[in-house]
Amino acid sequence: MNTSSQRIYLDNAATSYPKPPGVAEAVTDYMVNNGAAFGRGSYRDGEIASEIVTQCRQQVARLLSAQAREIAFTFNCTDSLNLLLRGLLQPNDRVVTSRLEHNSVLRPLNQLQQELTLDVDYLSFDVSSGLIDPDAFRQSLAARPTRLVVLNHASNVTGVIQPVQEVIEHAHAAGALVLLDAAQTTGHHEICLSELKADFLAAAGHKGMLGPLGTGIVYVRSGREELLSPIRCGGTGTQSESPQQPRDLPGLFESGNMNMPGLVGLHAALQWLQSQDRPLLAKNLASCAALLRSRLQDLPGVQLLTDGMQPNTGIVSFTIDGVDSREAATILDSSFGVQCRAGFHCAPLVHQHLTTAESGGSLRMSPGVFTTEDEIVAAVVAIEQLCDAFSIS
Ligand SMILES: Cc1ncc(COP(=O)(O)O)c(C=O)c1O
Repeated sequence: MNTSSQRIYLDNAATSYPKPPGVAEAVTDYMVNNGAAFGRGSYRDGEIASEIVTQCRQQVARLLSAQAREIAFTFNCTDSLNLLLRGLLQPNDRVVTSRLEHNSVLRPLNQLQQELTLDVDYLSFDVSSGLIDPDAFRQSLAARPTRLVVLNHASNVTGVIQPVQEVIEHAHAAGALVLLDAAQTTGHHEICLSELKADFLAAAGHKGMLGPLGTGIVYVRSGREELLSPIRCGGTGTQSESPQQPRDLPGLFESGNMNMPGLVGLHAALQWLQSQDRPLLAKNLASCAALLRSRLQDLPGVQLLTDGMQPNTGIVSFTIDGVDSREAATILDSSFGVQCRAGFHCAPLVHQHLTTAESGGSLRMSPGVFTTEDEIVAAVVAIEQLCDAFSIS
């Protein structure tokens, strides 16, 4: 039970909270006054609903410097990754990925490895920088023809942003396609797909894009849709006379009714995001993370996992000597109202590599665009008191 009256939400890497002003209102207004599906009815409210989704697709495209016809909506980033991996990979394909990946990449790959006898290379990373080793990456690509490189843009444990421009250039030079898992960067961090030239990108609508849960996006670079098979087939509201699934976006991936309340909320969130000074939002988030890191560095018994790892999305992961991270997170919430994540964060190979696996993973605090420096200071005071309670000095 939370005995504290405060709520300090530091789990924005899982999902962002609070949502911007206007999001809940837009969802409520849609639920109460519209409620129609998108791309189906030609009556007035159906057309209004369709227009909102069209605008939302354009907003996502603008955010990523992509074209609206390269974007499809999904239900979360995991869904996007499954659709792309399963839609693309063929028997005996070779895939290069990394030990930094989230289970939303590791598990579909593991499943597909069994079904399709894939050859998967899991690249390691440098424990002090958090970066994959560029030489190992090039050697892996040179070792055997590779169909796909799948890499997270930023790790959800370390927050370190990979030099993806270089990765994409090397991969393309070696004839491999690139899928970026941009769950931790989209919305927070500038992504210009017209320059990056990633072939595919998966992201969540509910993290840095500040929309509701149950929203995700897929980006497929124009022309690359020809390489993909549909995974979920069904009605799209288009080409209804055809027994076949459309082979272009968005119909390739948008079968059945979409999460309209979620997309209405995402539309409102992106409207808010685009009305803001985004570099200033990023600066405030970075200064909250820097403050948290520097205060934690001074606490005896606290070990930062991400000490000195730059550039970073703002995630701060750490352990407390002799204290189980899950127990610490429970106490931080119940006694101080500080809400953060503990454990492996669905990224077990990162913890194996950082040797935090044996001690049950780490604590992870992830400020968001609405986090204040006062909240960070209060969170550090809570950690200090927790350390005192465990007599850590
Ligand atoms: C790097 C990374 N990839 C994928 C995901 C899955 O995102 P979702 O919760 O939208 O399925 C997450 C979630 O935290 C993540 O951090």
